[in-house]
Amino acid sequence: MPTTAIPHLALVARMSHVARRLARSPALAPYLSRLHATTTVDAPSASQTGWMGRPLVDEGDATNRADASSASSASSASRTPGQVDAEHFRQGDSVAFWANWRFDESASGVREMLADLGGTVRSSADATYWAYHAMRTSWFLGQGAAGLIASNALAGGGVKSPIGGDGGIRSGVTAGARLVAEAAQVYKQDLGFMRAGRFNPPWDMHPSHRQFNPMFVADKTKKFIKEATSTLRKSRAAKEAAAARSAAGGSAEAAETKVWMDSPLYPDYYLKTFHYQTDGWLSTQSAEVYEVSTETLFLGRQDAMQRTALVPLSEYMRERVNEGAPEDGSTATAVREDGAGAKLLELACGTGRFLTFVRDNYPGMDTTGLDLSPFYLIEARKNGEYWEKMRRRVRNARGGGGGGAVTDALRLIGGFAKRVGVPLPPLPLPNARPSNGGARDRGHEKIGSCEFVQAAAEAMPFPDASFDVITCVYLLHELPAEARAAAAKEAARVLKPGGLLVLADSVQLGDRPRLDAHLGKFGDFNEPHYRDYISSELVSVFGPDGAGLTPWTKELCSSTKVLSFRKPK
Ligand SMILES: C[S@@+](CC[C@H](N)C(=O)[O-])C[C@H]1O[C@@H](n2cnc3c(N)ncnc32)[C@H](O)[C@@H]1O
Repeated sequence: MPTTAIPHLALVARMSHVARRLARSPALAPYLSRLHATTTVDAPSASQTGWMGRPLVDEGDATNRADASSASSASSASRTPGQVDAEHFRQGDSVAFWANWRFDESASGVREMLADLGGTVRSSADATYWAYHAMRTSWFLGQGAAGLIASNALAGGGVKSPIGGDGGIRSGVTAGARLVAEAAQVYKQDLGFMRAGRFNPPWDMHPSHRQFNPMFVADKTKKFIKEATSTLRKSRAAKEAAAARSAAGGSAEAAETKVWMDSPLYPDYYLKTFHYQTDGWLSTQSAEVYEVSTETLFLGRQDAMQRTALVPLSEYMRERVNEGAPEDGSTATAVREDGAGAKLLELACGTGRFLTFVRDNYPGMDTTGLDLSPFYLIEARKNGEYWEKMRRRVRNARGGGGGGAVTDALRLIGGFAKRVGVPLPPLPLPNARPSNGGARDRGHEKIGSCEFVQAAAEAMPFPDASFDVITCVYLLHELPAEARAAAAKEAARVLKPGGLLVLADSVQLGDRPRLDAHLGKFGDFNEPHYRDYISSELVSVFGPDGAGLTPWTKELCSSTKVLSFRKPK
């Protein structure tokens, strides 16, 4: 065996065996049983939030359909959107997996889970992936706790965690354990899609990414803590005001949460402080803290959940690449593996983070990010420029050759060891990038264009049939039903015949039946349209009887569902 393989094998073996040894360790037994005891002792509270925070208990098939029935339902009879989807979409394995997944908090259940996760580490790339994501989730867990502690200190106690529980340490630990277990399943699925060549490893894992710079992290943390204390304070004040109003016999409607600016561009429903965030969508402060706030609420799994939207995209792109140029004499161009020749619109792109993952897989693609918020578009532009800079820097450092984050990490470790005089065997240079439908390194790379447009999804300033692909992440639950229907019609209009629409948003009723009883609670977090969204049949809105698109595929990933549609040719 060559000596160069030693550090590699050691890393893989360590990651995989740490998980397995933990699962078998008698030393872990008391902690596992304590976790079990904590979980069973702490009764669930009906005030637990839904989408982002998961209920602590398994509700079976959810006989309590309080949310389902109280939602102003766009759905027919008693069928849930999840049941309706099953009749229309080709469902990936993830759909049954998440419909049935539950956190088995018993000692043997946790052991089994650890052993299962340990078995997923088969290469140094896998080990790097797990190390990065374990760090990511721990970091966001700690940051969430810091936000709560700061809010409690400022409010004199009594601030409840948006991830559920009664705000006490025990229920916080239980909710945290459940969410960590769920995050681990998300990462396992994400890694599985990467192995299957659906998309590349996340570009931000590279060790020279700014998120590993302590100054950058400190700045984001400071902004997050400030925002979290303000959000939780506003949420509590709104609840107290509603309780006081209803005690006085008045209506318990939410307090006015209008934002500071207006424009004829903005529909009324848009001018609200959704999830009590400062200035709603309309300030630099809001845009700069958005990613860190949502990733903290999702405990670091948001990016991985959103990447599920790349699954139908990769199938579509393969189809287009295999098709070649049309022979009918039309002007349509052939689409290349790196995405060149295809045009993608990211609808409600927000700060453009998902768009960077799209571009990293299809760097030659021409992309457009559309959003109503100029402040979020500025952040999206910065994110796009940063991705471009990183991509050029990393490729130049490798001389345009292959490799990836693992290689770069090993190079950095090697350089550091040399400087401090630690003798290490020569480092291996693995081919970390899996063979997939995305871009290959080929020396000088032509990166596709990226434009930004400020407009409403309901009235897009594009001619008919402008885009091959439209992606839309976490917009639908923010829209009233009429705006959702208008946006669907617009998306169908600007899509080319044969084109693809990918929607990623919160799971709905019936997607994970065990969660149905509590899912709508997220609506109480100043999300006025959330309850309507979770009961709405998206196939009626986007499908043949709505916007006229054809249902295609469905995947689930924890709190996120991904539906795709095709425009008939
Ligand atoms: C929850 S954020 C999601 C942002 C981004 N897609 C992500 O996942 O990070 C919702 C975004 O939708 C935008 N938005 C809301 N209503 C819109 C509308 N009618 N048209 C265009 N953008 C809208 C907001 O400005 C905000 O950036």
